[in-house]
Amino acid sequence: MSARKILVTSALPYANGPIHLGHLVEYIQTDIWVRFQKQRGNLCYYVCADDTHGTPIMLRADREGITPEQLIAQVGKEHLADFIEFGIAFDNYHSTHSEENKAYSTLIYERLRDAGHISSRSITQAFDPVKNMFLSDRFIKGECPKCGALDQYGDGCEVCGATYSPTELKNAVSAISGAKPVDKDSVHYFFDLANFSDMLRDWTHAGHLQSEVRNKLAEWLDGGLQQWDISRDAPYFGFEIPDAPGKYFYVWLDAPIGYMASFKNLCDKQGLDFNEFWSKNSDAELYHFIGKDIIYFHALFWPAMLSGAHFRTPSAIFAHGFLTVNGEKMSKSRGTFIKARTYLDHLNPEYLRYYFAAKLSAGVDDLDLNFDDFSQRVNSDLVGKVVNIASRCSGFIAKRFDNKLSEQCSEQALFDEFVVANTHIAELYEAREFGKAMREIMALADKANQYIDELKPWLIAKEEGKDKELHEVCSMGLNLFRLLAVYLKPVLPVLAGNAESFLNIEAQVWPVGTQPLLSHAINAFKPLMTRVDAEKIVAIVEASKENLEKTAEAPTERKYEPIADTIEFDDFAKLDLRIGKIIKADHVEGADKLLQLTVDIGDETRNIFAGIKSAYKPEELEGKLTLVIANLAPRKMRFGLSEGMVLAAGPGGKDIWVLSPDEGAQPGMRVK
Ligand code: 2FM
Ligand code: ZN
Repeated sequence: MSARKILVTSALPYANGPIHLGHLVEYIQTDIWVRFQKQRGNLCYYVCADDTHGTPIMLRADREGITPEQLIAQVGKEHLADFIEFGIAFDNYHSTHSEENKAYSTLIYERLRDAGHISSRSITQAFDPVKNMFLSDRFIKGECPKCGALDQYGDGCEVCGATYSPTELKNAVSAISGAKPVDKDSVHYFFDLANFSDMLRDWTHAGHLQSEVRNKLAEWLDGGLQQWDISRDAPYFGFEIPDAPGKYFYVWLDAPIGYMASFKNLCDKQGLDFNEFWSKNSDAELYHFIGKDIIYFHALFWPAMLSGAHFRTPSAIFAHGFLTVNGEKMSKSRGTFIKARTYLDHLNPEYLRYYFAAKLSAGVDDLDLNFDDFSQRVNSDLVGKVVNIASRCSGFIAKRFDNKLSEQCSEQALFDEFVVANTHIAELYEAREFGKAMREIMALADKANQYIDELKPWLIAKEEGKDKELHEVCSMGLNLFRLLAVYLKPVLPVLAGNAESFLNIEAQVWPVGTQPLLSHAINAFKPLMTRVDAEKIVAIVEASKENLEKTAEAPTERKYEPIADTIEFDDFAKLDLRIGKIIKADHVEGADKLLQLTVDIGDETRNIFAGIKSAYKPEELEGKLTLVIANLAPRKMRFGLSEGMVLAAGPGGKDIWVLSPDEGAQPGMRVK
């Protein structure tokens, strides 16, 4: 069979925050698949880039007193360094803020426009009169029109769960300047996605998507496709739209085009033919690995854009689930929001590559990193099973046979069984069923260990005249180890490379029809992997907690946490802060997030509604102390009058804390 031509991408990480273990699920998954394809002899290119445009990057650069170009250059370097150390072997890593990306974004836009797929019209939007910029929903905060909760984003209330438009927010302010937004009209450019309804309906049913994804898309398609707003007004960090001065491409328009741009950059460096991979009649394969949260962009907008601009569409989109840690969402306060760099400071990246491989499937299910399971699997599978075979056999080969393997092999049938297994293992890798592939490989490792256990070279070694047998058993052990190493190579390139050096062999390709190494000189054995040190995991969690104190959460384009504006001392002095004791806590009928609290603040009790239901059961709160703003004007809510506010700390969800009872603290005490 002739070699396949394959172009593979992972989602472009946003250049506004560090790479963390959640990102790495995808890069490790993609890298394993790409390494497997290359090992099989296919022509496979893996490209990626930093996703650099948009408002959060512009604002962050502004806050840091640097240009967006300086910011993205710095972050791009950090991202790439993290990827390299995790063994993510991109053929090219580029930036969406590049000449190639500007050229292809312009070309695609112009082709879509000329074919009648772009329209423009004026829309009314909130505008920050101080910053002189339009505010997307996430940059507006105010009181929820439904429950009155303060400090809610323009697109929905985190307390009562209501969704609404920012114009409905009460006392809305810009999250950037604090100014009251005004309504302002402006012309926006739209991509008429509905023109592609038929094309997308066919495409989504033509084998390019996982079944879960296909079903989701069918719902969207049945609901009718809306126009997609692809422009943003200045000031915006991005590419100006060619025929529309002062208007910029929305970051999500040029982000996927960044896949093409990075590949074009590679083509120019290596003399490859761009069209062979992207033209409409290309016979190359194109795969995008993504998280399930960005399916919309990749399985609707992107194929439509490509098709409308006369480029080929993807062969498949491979979506994966999210990472949880110890069964819960990654949490900064628990120290489970772990940056790639923090992990690298303490542990071998190949542990994580193996662990993720062992847990990955072709579906979109979430994947849990459980620290106990992590140590146990790495120690038992890699150290206890795989590396152990080499260490058990290499000693005798070194001491008794001058590091030379036997002339003959005693167990050709067992060796052949290991070679034949390549077909099924390859099918599993190809289908992204890495967890199943790891189980197959570990079943072989068990067999190799059983073989050694049964023949007991340590006993043979003590018997007279059994040198030949000892030599053949240990040589077979190392030959089996060699096959395990080649099967694990996509996942553990460093371990496999070290095994090749030890066995004194060339870089191994996929083993079809391989024969055992006989009369072959090997090198001295060096330990290939050590056990996971449990203390290092504790250190990672501790260091990740520190990260939280030192750095603010990195906002992303889809989730923005603005930095609070400062207040004057006089404003602070107006607060009547007191210790309150929660004497009663109840559920509130019809409210998802609120609890009703009766709080003793010393000289009186107050009825207060607090959005802390995600963190506490009512009975857990009774008897606890909390800080109360006692002079907050009472607010009428849908559920009753709220007479003050309790202060709790934490990033949200389960991580919100009121105070615990402490000796000496009494209800009513003023907070100084
Ligand atoms: O979700 C994100 O973090 C985006 N930066 C992914 C972009 S993928 C592609 F379209 F560029
Ligand atoms: Zn609300």
